[in-house]
Amino acid sequence: MVDLDANLGLEGIDPKRIPVHVACVMDGNGRWAKKRGLPRTAGHTAGEEALMDTINGALEVGVKWLTVYAFSTENWKRPPDEVRFLMRFNESLLVRRRDELHAKGVRIRFTGRRDWRVPRRLLRRIDESVELTRGNRLMTLTIAFNYGGRAEIVDAVASMIADGVQASKVSEKIIRSHMYFPDMPDPDLVIRTSGEYRISNFLLWELAYSELVFSDVLWPDFRRRHLFGAIREYQSRDRRYGGLEV
Ligand code: IPE
Ligand code: IPE
Ligand code: MG
Repeated sequence: MVDLDANLGLEGIDPKRIPVHVACVMDGNGRWAKKRGLPRTAGHTAGEEALMDTINGALEVGVKWLTVYAFSTENWKRPPDEVRFLMRFNESLLVRRRDELHAKGVRIRFTGRRDWRVPRRLLRRIDESVELTRGNRLMTLTIAFNYGGRAEIVDAVASMIADGVQASKVSEKIIRSHMYFPDMPDPDLVIRTSGEYRISNFLLWELAYSELVFSDVLWPDFRRRHLFGAIREYQSRDRRYGGLEV
């Protein structure tokens, strides 16, 4: 567990070694609300501020790809009221924030399954937001929604079979080319908040060599200074990729 709470700005961050892709498991909303005697949904609402500050911090420090885990393929197991809230909340967040993100040069993308359980209205807002921001290049914000790492691998295998890929031709390169976004670089840094030490089915294929940073900050309390702290921690690590330090 890393203490990310130092009240520092960009001090100590090497601008030449900024992680290209940062991915966040935004966890702890329910516990944040419970601590305050509020309903769990109040924690999700409070998470919006954390998300926007993290996006702005990522832009400030020069992160090119930011991926956030908003709803997993397992989150359908939650009580129907909470699931319904999350669907509406994500829809309204998109509508309220997309112009601001567009103005900042953020390209919005969604990764995950578009299955029948995702309300049509939300799918429509997703498509509009993706279309609106398609040409932006300052940063790509990928929202993982109804996303599961195993589901992504299952879908990649199915699409390889549908394309008639022969067994002898299967390679890491071919599998990668059938993932949801083949152009997305693997995450350099994965941050999970709320003190849980697990991946919870996030980006399983892509995070093979990511640096993992776990923090006990609950997501609604997460701010850019925590992101900067995680980047400092990332820069202190040796990435060997199975080789030897050079
Ligand atoms: C993360 O917070 C948001 C989603 C999974 C949608 P949680 O809702 O998991 O909050 P905790 O982990 O119960 O505190
Ligand atoms: C992971 O958090 C999914 C998201 C943050 C969207 P969960 O709260 O669903 O994960 P578990 O249940 O603690 O593993
Ligand atoms: Mg959780």
